[in-house]
Amino acid sequence: MSPNKHREQPTNGFPPGFLWGAATSSYQVEGAAREDGRAPSIWDTFTAERGMDSGEEACDHYHRWPADADLMAQLGMNAYRFSLAWPRIVPDGTGAVNPAGLAHYDRMVDGLLERGITPVPTLYHWDLPQALQDRGGWTSRATADAFAAYAEVCLDALGDRVDTWLTVNEPWVVSVLGYRLGLHAPGEQDLRTSLLVAHHLLLAHGAATQRIRERRPAARVGIPLSLFPNYPVTDDPADAAAAWGSDGYTNRWFLDPVLRGRYPADTVELFEGLVGPLDWVRPGDLDLIGARPDFVGVNYYTRRRISAAPADGLPWRVLPAQPGVPVTDSGWEDVPEVFQDLLVRLHRDYDIPLLITENGGVWNAEPGPDGRVRDAGRVRALRAHLLALSRAVDAGAQVLGYLHWSLLDNLEWAEGYGQRFGLVHVDRATQRRTVKDSARYYAAVIAANRVVDDTDDLAGKA
Ligand code: FCB
Repeated sequence: MSPNKHREQPTNGFPPGFLWGAATSSYQVEGAAREDGRAPSIWDTFTAERGMDSGEEACDHYHRWPADADLMAQLGMNAYRFSLAWPRIVPDGTGAVNPAGLAHYDRMVDGLLERGITPVPTLYHWDLPQALQDRGGWTSRATADAFAAYAEVCLDALGDRVDTWLTVNEPWVVSVLGYRLGLHAPGEQDLRTSLLVAHHLLLAHGAATQRIRERRPAARVGIPLSLFPNYPVTDDPADAAAAWGSDGYTNRWFLDPVLRGRYPADTVELFEGLVGPLDWVRPGDLDLIGARPDFVGVNYYTRRRISAAPADGLPWRVLPAQPGVPVTDSGWEDVPEVFQDLLVRLHRDYDIPLLITENGGVWNAEPGPDGRVRDAGRVRALRAHLLALSRAVDAGAQVLGYLHWSLLDNLEWAEGYGQRFGLVHVDRATQRRTVKDSARYYAAVIAANRVVDDTDDLAGKA
């Protein structure tokens, strides 16, 4: 039992050895899209086809990572979540390994360790090699096998120095935004296909977990899930039922197979009613998927407000922000208490260690005339979310660390560069980095290993 379990006074503190850091992903920050043998990914194709902002240059982190790692170290961070680009390492998706691609991550892992920063790589953060997409992408079961083989390459190259692995980032977002809503690569719009893809993503997670355990039994592995708590908009039992239905769709469809070895029965019934039998699930699949990981990666941003009125082919409707509730610059409700409830629920329902792999929001502050970036909204929200996190720890949730999204202002997928999530401001024209007030505040928290009050003189720190 955790010593924090029955504490009566809030400590605002965190366990010893807590991981403190920030997160990025390859396509969103690296740039160098055509260098050292990298092949195109589905996001290169998708952004080109739709004329969107692309990751061609992004934050040029591929070249600038040493300076970025220096910044992390100056801020006191002891962990960095980044992703390995499959199209750099196995450009064709299967087969030949590209040594130059692997060498990049090999150097980066060494460079992080030299600075006292624990590398936390994600194996898949959405940049599927286009060559695999041409052979069916995630609609093909073979892609999960290809992923397992790619994971082995990564493990063999980096597993002697990496002890915390993340498998497949946010299978809900990949399957729903990529295959049902058409908002993300590859831009399809079909519920049945999205469910097929979700199963293959879970299989990929299961296969990679198995490989990690075979090759690196001392390592720990987790899956980063986008978890959106669903709140009914009224006390009407119909809205409560709709919110539970939406919870099945967004959260339990992934939590239950990974942590309980089965899809949730109510959601199976709903989906089978809409698309027919989920006949791609083969014997043994749920054993592979359900070999519990060592922790769940929690990506938390906001809640969903649900009413029972059907919309878009599903028996509920997602409503916009509640008037009076604070929102970020992208209009998402900023509701830290929901974060606390989510963590306590995960602890209660699934009893699994948690690593916060993403949390943050859009505040588009720019440097003032004195050069300082006063992102007061992010400072306030960060403090409130860290307080919520410490309360969840006090309530017994076992939390391994907190990785803020994001280190840098970067390519926010289909939203482009207009949405700034970074602790560090990036000037698009010059690539100049500016540490924002929020990063200075975060550094003060990290140094204390507890939530400190906002400081008046943020400019003087770090
Ligand atoms: C998550 C993604 C991450 C970033 C944040 C804002 O869904 O995993 O790459 O875009 O949202």
